[in-house]
Amino acid sequence: MAKKHTPQLIVALDVDTLEEAQALVGRLKEDVGIYKVGSQLFTACGPAVVRYLLKAGKKVFLDLKFHDIPNTVAQAVSAAVRLEEGGRGIFMCTLHVSGGGEMLRQAVMAATKTAQNIGVMKPLLVGITVLTSEGKRDNILQLVLEKARLAKESGLNGVVASCQEAAAIRDKFGDDFVIVTPGIRPEGSQAEDQKRAATPQEAVASGSDFLVVGRPIIKADNPSDVTKRILSIINQT
Ligand code: C5P
Repeated sequence: MAKKHTPQLIVALDVDTLEEAQALVGRLKEDVGIYKVGSQLFTACGPAVVRYLLKAGKKVFLDLKFHDIPNTVAQAVSAAVRLEEGGRGIFMCTLHVSGGGEMLRQAVMAATKTAQNIGVMKPLLVGITVLTSEGKRDNILQLVLEKARLAKESGLNGVVASCQEAAAIRDKFGDDFVIVTPGIRPEGSQAEDQKRAATPQEAVASGSDFLVVGRPIIKADNPSDVTKRILSIINQT
C-alpha cells in the first residue's frame, strides 16, 4: 500500500547559466525549498551554483548520476559532500545502481566518512533505477525492484523511480526508503522525452517522497503560477 503523506516538490534547475538559475530562484521565492542541480547546470557553472543555493537557504539535490569504477565514484561523492556553505552541505545526490554493489557500498562509506570529517550531515544517497525517459517494457517493474533491492542492500537511502513503480517500491522496502519521482506532468503539459510520466495527483497517490519537476515550471511563461498550482494539488491530494 502507498504511504499516506505529503511529498515535497523539487524544481530541476535545468538551465545554462548561474544568472538564469538565480532569476528562477528569485521568482519562485519561498514556494520552493529544494532545487535539483543536474549535469547541464553543474557542467556550465560548477560549485558556484551549489554555494549560491546553500547561501540562499535552499536545499540542494545534486543530480550528477555518478557511474564509474568504485574508487572514482567514492571520490566524486566525497567531493560532493565537501560542497558546503557555513556548515550546510548538499541534501541529496544520485548514482546509478547499475554501477554495482561494490561501487554503491564504497560511495556510502566515502559519504559517511567525509561528512563526519568535515562536520556536515551526510546527504541522502539515492540510486537511479531505470530512467523515466525509457518506455514501458514488459519487465520494467521487476527490473526497478531488483535495482531498488541492490540499492537498499548496499546502504543507499532510496531510489529515483517513476510513479508507475513507486507504490510497489514502497510496499516492498518500507516507509523509510526514499522515493524520488521525476517525469511529473500537470494535466495539459507536454510529455517531451518523458515516457513514464505521471500527473502530480498520480505521483502523490503512488507514495513518492519527492516530486521532481523541470520543464513544466522552468519553461512556463509564469513559473510561479505553475508552481503554486502544483503545490496546491500536492497539498490537496
Ligand atoms: O523537465 P523534466 O520535468 O522532464 O525534468 C526532469 C528532471 O529529472 C531532469 O532534470 C532529469 O535529468 C531528471 N531525472 C529524470 N529521470 C530520472 C532521474 C532524473 O527525468 N530517472
